[in-house]
Amino acid sequence: MIWDKFRRSRGDESTEPAVPSVDDAASEDGEPDDDGFPEGDPEAVGEHEPWASRAAAVIPGGSSTGSKRPEALFGEGPLDETIPTHYSRARGCSLFVVDGDSELEVVDCTMALGSVAIGYADSHVTSVVVQAASLGNVGGMPNVLEVSVAERLCDFIPCAEQVRFLKSGAEAVSAAVRIARTYTARDRIVCAGYFGWHDWASGDDVAGIPAGARTDVARVPFDDVQALEDAVRGAGSSLAAIVIEPVVERLPSPEWIARARALATENGAVLIFDEMKTGFRLKPGGYGELSGVEPDVAVFGKAMANGFSIAAVVGRADVMDAARRTWISSTLAGETVGLAATHAVLDWHEKEDVCATLATVGAAMRGAVDRAVVACGLPGIKLSGLDQMWRIEFDEPNVERAFVRHALVNGALFKRGAYNFAALAHEEAIGDIEAAASAALVAIREEQHGR
Ligand SMILES: Cc1ncc(COP(=O)(O)O)c(C=O)c1O
Repeated sequence: MIWDKFRRSRGDESTEPAVPSVDDAASEDGEPDDDGFPEGDPEAVGEHEPWASRAAAVIPGGSSTGSKRPEALFGEGPLDETIPTHYSRARGCSLFVVDGDSELEVVDCTMALGSVAIGYADSHVTSVVVQAASLGNVGGMPNVLEVSVAERLCDFIPCAEQVRFLKSGAEAVSAAVRIARTYTARDRIVCAGYFGWHDWASGDDVAGIPAGARTDVARVPFDDVQALEDAVRGAGSSLAAIVIEPVVERLPSPEWIARARALATENGAVLIFDEMKTGFRLKPGGYGELSGVEPDVAVFGKAMANGFSIAAVVGRADVMDAARRTWISSTLAGETVGLAATHAVLDWHEKEDVCATLATVGAAMRGAVDRAVVACGLPGIKLSGLDQMWRIEFDEPNVERAFVRHALVNGALFKRGAYNFAALAHEEAIGDIEAAASAALVAIREEQHGR
């Protein structure tokens, strides 16, 4: 079994997986088991060929998630074969990355692009999910979990009176926009932020999108009151919605958000907050709850289900009711694994103040990296963002590229060009994060002096 190769497991002596792996299906002698799984260890096939090149051969770009492509993780340029690009198991805040023939445990500061805020393979979430899967995760009628999770979300999220589920953030924001267009019987959208890969939400630099898909969408810069007012004026009586990702590297000015709220109300448009990154992280209800500014509709996902596939559109009942008058539907929208994971995360938030702990742990993480930066004395590196979601900014892309590569082989995965996200599980790993950052910075300083 591949599990036998793990060197150690942070904060957990057991190296056994919580649930059986495909590997368990093959018998010791490689004969097929009764259940008909293929013979032998599928991981052994081509084990001397790097995962990055195997991936590049069969997956365009090397990964189905843009931010996990090798060049997104490690920057442009050839990758040294000692840099692991894939993991085989995750637990707590650890990834067990594939390093040649063995595995190396590293602290993951990215937490799967912020989709996990408790920890990987959390025992409560996992047991609830396994139970949901074993009870039959889909059926020809809605499962009762669809109702009970919607009820609980309405209790947790201040602006939520009704809920629709989908599977990804991009789908959920697109659904929120369609609900707003249906509710107002108007077309034009003013937006600020990242909303996923769908046509309407993609920037002008993205290929393969017909010009018409973006004609009713005006993008404005984050926290720019004048630009927001101009765009709303430009949309005139066709304005359906103002869609805002409320936190981008920092909190917005209260003035910008208050103006967005007022402009939406004055113009009979829908204010939508995209709380994919901020929901169940800054507060359960995200930035809306933190600021006290209530959107008409909001979108949640990521930390809401600790890495399981689900997203929710929530909002005022009269606006959400428009979902009945258009068509928003997906075969697996009410699939129960994501719903069960959400129940388990809500249990966590009911039991303790998860968001407060994320702030404390995140401050410790960024403090650890900050200490390493100050101690090494390299210029052009600074820490930014909020404690729960923070970034390392580099003046020189080459230094950033070297940092993420050296840090990984020294025990920590940091996010290049985007957020590192705190999880409860990082509490035990602050020393390891500082050690990896220090080792990476010392290596860079030595390389620079050796030039
Ligand atoms: C603010 C925001 N909205 C939407 C999305 C898209 O979510 P998904 O990647 O699940 O489609 C993301 C993803 O990072 C996001 O950060």
